[in-house]
Amino acid sequence: MAKPSKTAYVCQNCGAVSPRWAGKCPSCGEWNTLTEETDAIAPPGSGLSRKSSGRVVVLETLKGRSAEAPRFSTGLGELDRVTGGGIVPGSALLIGGEPGIGKSTLLLQLAAALANSGRRAIYFSGEEAAAQVRLRAQRLGLTDAPVELACETSLAHIMATLEGGPPADLIVVDSIQTLWAEAIEAAPGTVSQVRAAAQALIRHAKNAGSALLLVGHVTKDGQIAGPKVIEHMVDTVLYFEGDRGHTYRILRAVKNRFGATDEIGVFEMASGGLREIANPSELFLGDRDASSPGAAVFAGLEGTRPLLVEIQALVAPSALGMPRRAVVGWDSNRLSMLLAVLEARAGVSFAGQDVYLNVAGGLRINEPAADLAAAAALVSSLSGVAIPRHRVHFGEVSLSGAISGVPLMAARLKEAQKLGFRQATLPAQGELEAGGVKLELRRIAHLRELADAAPSCD
Ligand code: TYD
Ligand code: MG
Repeated sequence: MAKPSKTAYVCQNCGAVSPRWAGKCPSCGEWNTLTEETDAIAPPGSGLSRKSSGRVVVLETLKGRSAEAPRFSTGLGELDRVTGGGIVPGSALLIGGEPGIGKSTLLLQLAAALANSGRRAIYFSGEEAAAQVRLRAQRLGLTDAPVELACETSLAHIMATLEGGPPADLIVVDSIQTLWAEAIEAAPGTVSQVRAAAQALIRHAKNAGSALLLVGHVTKDGQIAGPKVIEHMVDTVLYFEGDRGHTYRILRAVKNRFGATDEIGVFEMASGGLREIANPSELFLGDRDASSPGAAVFAGLEGTRPLLVEIQALVAPSALGMPRRAVVGWDSNRLSMLLAVLEARAGVSFAGQDVYLNVAGGLRINEPAADLAAAAALVSSLSGVAIPRHRVHFGEVSLSGAISGVPLMAARLKEAQKLGFRQATLPAQGELEAGGVKLELRRIAHLRELADAAPSCD
C-alpha cells in the first residue's frame, strides 16, 4: 500500500517544519537541527491522513457537570505539591531533565509507592534492560513492590500490551525518545516519531483513565527531539533540575492544567534514592556558623514556599586592567546593574576590584527580590565587616537606587523567624501584615541607607 509520502525538514529543537533544508532553523534560530522526516505534517492517528466521514458531535454549554478533578496522592509529598495535590487520572505528565539527573529513579520510586498502595503501575523502560532496572530497584530497596516492568521500544507492542490488559492507574514511559512507531518513516527520537508515540499513548491514557508519565531527555546537540516538542500535548510539564556537583534536585512545574505552575519540590539524591526535603531552607543556608564578611541571607520565595538562601560575595583588589566579575546562580547582568547602582547612587565604588558572587548550595535565583541581599553581601565583603548571622534581607533595587516592595513579605519573615533569624532588612514600601512576626525590622527606602549603616557584628 504505497502512498505518496511527503518529505519535510523538521527542526528537532522547536518542531518547526520547512520545505527545504537549511543550516539554521528559520523559526528558533538553532543551528544544525533540521532533519528530513516523512509524513511529518500529518502523523497517522491524527485523523488527517485518513479519509473519514465526520459525525455530528454534541455541543455543550460551559455550565454543568464539572466536578473537581479527582486526584490520587503519589505517596511522595514533594511530587504531590508540584502537581497541585496529586496526579489526575487520565492526565499526561512530561518529566524533562538532563540525562543522569534522576528521572528514572524518581519514577521508579513513584511506581513502587503506587504499586505498594494497591494500584496498578506499569513501567516501560526503553533505555535500560530489565537487569539494570532491577539493579536500581535493589539499590532503592523496592524489589518487593508489585510494579509491572517491560523493556520495550516498539510503540505497537506497548499499545497492544496496554489495550490487552485491565486499565493501569499509572503508566511510565522512560523515555519517549526511545519509542518508535513502525508506520512512521523516521528514525526513533525524531520529532514525528516522538509526537506520534506521545499522541497514541495520551489517547490511550485518556480512554483508560490511566495517569501517563513520559520521560523526556533534554538534549543539547539537536539530534534527538527535545521534550519541548510535546509540551503542548500533555497536561503537565515538570522539569527535574539540579547541579551535578550538588546532591539536591528541584522538580519544577512549568505547565499544569490542574494546578499552579510556580511550585517546586525539593529532593536530595542520596545513596538509597531520592529523599524528600520538607524544609529546603536548611539545605541552602550554607555553613551558618562562620560569620565571615560577604555572606548575606536572602529570604526568597519559590512558588508559594519561602526559601532562605545564603548569597556569598567576594570583593578583592584586582591585578587585571579589567577586573573580573563572575557570578554563579544569579544573573550576571543583574550583578553589573547592581554594581553600577551602588556606585552611582550610594557612592560605593568597586573600581579596581574583582567581584565574585555565589548562591550557596548551587541554587539558581531568578527573583528580583534578591537584589538587596546581593547588595548587602557585596558591601559587606568590600568593607570587611560581617553581617550579623541572624539577619535576612529582601527587596528589589531600581536604577535610581530606590528599594521597592516585593510580594509576600510576611511569608518571608515568618519563614526567617521559624529558622531562628532575629532581624530583617526589607523595603520601606509595601503593606506588611506583620501579625505574629517578632523580628526586629529595618525598613529602608534607598540603597544609600544600606551602605551608610555599615553592618555591625553581633
Ligand atoms: P537516573 O535516575 O538514572 O537518571 P536519569 O534517568 O535522569 O538519566 O539517576 C542517575 C544518577 O543518580 C546516577 O548518577 C546515580 C545516581 N543515583 C544515586 O545517587 N543514588 C541512587 O539511589 C540511585 C538509584 C541513583
Ligand atoms: Mg533514565
